[in-house]
Amino acid sequence: DLGYINGKFVQLDERVIPIEERGHQFGDGVYEVIQCYNGQPFMLEEHLQRLLESCEAIKLPISETLEDFRTLILTGIEKAELQYGKVYLQVTRGIAVRNHPFPDVPVSISMTLKDTEPLAEGYRVNGVHAITHDDERWAKCYIKSLNLLPNILAKQEAQEAGCFEAILVRNGFISEGTSSNIYMVKDGAVITTPLSNHILAGITRMAVIQAAEELNIPFVERYFSPKELLEADEVFMTSTLVEVLPIVKIDGTVIDKGVPGEITKKLYMQYQELKK
Ligand code: PDD
Repeated sequence: DLGYINGKFVQLDERVIPIEERGHQFGDGVYEVIQCYNGQPFMLEEHLQRLLESCEAIKLPISETLEDFRTLILTGIEKAELQYGKVYLQVTRGIAVRNHPFPDVPVSISMTLKDTEPLAEGYRVNGVHAITHDDERWAKCYIKSLNLLPNILAKQEAQEAGCFEAILVRNGFISEGTSSNIYMVKDGAVITTPLSNHILAGITRMAVIQAAEELNIPFVERYFSPKELLEADEVFMTSTLVEVLPIVKIDGTVIDKGVPGEITKKLYMQYQELKK
């Protein structure tokens, strides 16, 4: 495991951030989580492109290019000798005396590189449970911002209910999970929420769209209600960290037969191919 901050590789527990740092005090920054397989960051270009878009969306004046970030991450992976693990990359508006308007200081770039274990096999084999929860987030959820309080509060409620994820509902329709995108399968087609300012454009979502295309599985982007979700043939979630994960029970209601569905399994298998 290894850390990085503003030009220097450090130990993860090293004290490196002054109290007056904008990510720390205001949540004034953006981030990415990238999974590393066999020493290779998966879909790195897509993650970095999204990072640059997040920076632009909150007017972070970065001088680094996509290539600079790519070099930084590849260097970090090599230094940390990361094989299977995750890279967390964060950019904030820098270190300055606490005051709301933008300071004229350099941005802060930090990163952690950690060895991780694959998700417990039981979750994949049996599927996970979820709750639904009001989407209490702001109107710019397409930005991968550090402000995750509504996500954390909803996730905690899920955990306290013995569930893995909270599925967020805005104006009567499913938006996404607290840290995942949500899909249902109905009559052979995969259905997911269209991209908008209310959800994050998941990189895994992109990969799943590609996987569905390769498998000739119809893929539809449209809004769907919690009622439709409960009556679906299959439900699953995706993220960098869980890949494609079946959801078999929501708010105590069993989805179809309560076991991971066939299309979900096929998409998971195809996703494994994309990693190669
Ligand atoms: N979260 N929606 C939200 C709100 C997320 O936070 C994430 C990922 C996703 C899935 O995006 P992707 O497929 O690009 O990982 C969707 C990361 C993993 C996190 O916050 O840890």
